[in-house]
Amino acid sequence: MRIDIFSSKSYDIKFFKAAAAGKNLNLVFHDERLSLNSVKLAGGAQAVCAFVNDDLSAPVITELAALGVRLIALRSAGFNHVDLSAAAESGLVVARVPAYSPHAVAEHTVALIMTLNRNTHRAFNRVREGNFKLEDLLGFDMRGKTVGIVGTGLIGIALARILIGFGCKLLAHDPSHNAECVAMGVRYVNLPELWQQSDIISLQCPLVPDTYHLIDDAAIERMKPGVMLINTSRGAVVDTQAVIRGLKTGKIGALGLDVYEEESELFFKDLSASYIPDDVFARLLTFPNVLITGHQGFFTTEALRAIAEVTIGNITSFAQNGVPLHPVSLPD
Ligand code: NAI
Repeated sequence: MRIDIFSSKSYDIKFFKAAAAGKNLNLVFHDERLSLNSVKLAGGAQAVCAFVNDDLSAPVITELAALGVRLIALRSAGFNHVDLSAAAESGLVVARVPAYSPHAVAEHTVALIMTLNRNTHRAFNRVREGNFKLEDLLGFDMRGKTVGIVGTGLIGIALARILIGFGCKLLAHDPSHNAECVAMGVRYVNLPELWQQSDIISLQCPLVPDTYHLIDDAAIERMKPGVMLINTSRGAVVDTQAVIRGLKTGKIGALGLDVYEEESELFFKDLSASYIPDDVFARLLTFPNVLITGHQGFFTTEALRAIAEVTIGNITSFAQNGVPLHPVSLPD
């Protein structure tokens, strides 16, 4: 069986080759992002493997089906970038990796919080320039601070466990309440209460119609002055223009992003020798209290190994029984 792996980087090649060793699979790696321009590369493949910024809109899916592709194996948990109706209509099966390492993303979320809190990103540059002054590096104790977690799924729970260790008070909002979180002392509240009471707000929910631009002007208006906002979920959960307005007034005291609504034009590329074509993103970079990483929350050895192994498991199960281990189906 031939599988074309799009947006594949050196680390994908390494972990996928290891996971497929000894299996009768023909892996074809493409550095290109899957799009209408690149889809023809999948001619001859029975499956494509795609990542978070690959284009799986209806026109691309129709083209994949016409080329004879039968399986879209996502190497991500999120599947908001797939037109599931188009896949169902074209008879394509979609699979994903529901959980590879929630700890990877939770721990990266804490890294963003602690860096912004103690300004270690600024201290790093200062010390290297021989500047040992402490002005503007003042942080706060995590102990006793209220953290609001939006979405207590696998990542949200892992984050809650870490923050309990810091001595934080935890609020959460999620349509379904998790028993482990409740037992840890997490208090489920409605969103207005979470916005009003949290010193730090962290987004761990999926991007669905309900969460599109969940952080908008009205939500920011309700937040505590100087709130720290962290988004390691999906970019479009945050209205970037609203957040820039909040940063300018000081309502948002610190912003940590691992995801960005227009990230597909930027992330996973080296633009250091050209320029940043996105003026909104470039504006974000001018704030000293904004810390952005390029969708690396998942990027640990453990997670990459699990992603490759589960994806190969999805593909071999599909090859043998016509059903992947972790199918994604249309919501009822
Ligand atoms: P999960 O499916 O285990 O949990 C998601 C939780 O969000 C569920 O408890 C669900 O009930 C809740 N939820 C759904 N709609 C909501 C709403 N309107 N308001 C509040 N909560 C809502 O997913 P998991 O593994 O915890 O991942 C969460 C998200 O993190 C993924 O959907 C993905 O977008 C993102 N992610 C980011 C990564 C990164 O590298 N930065 C890597 C992996 C995932």
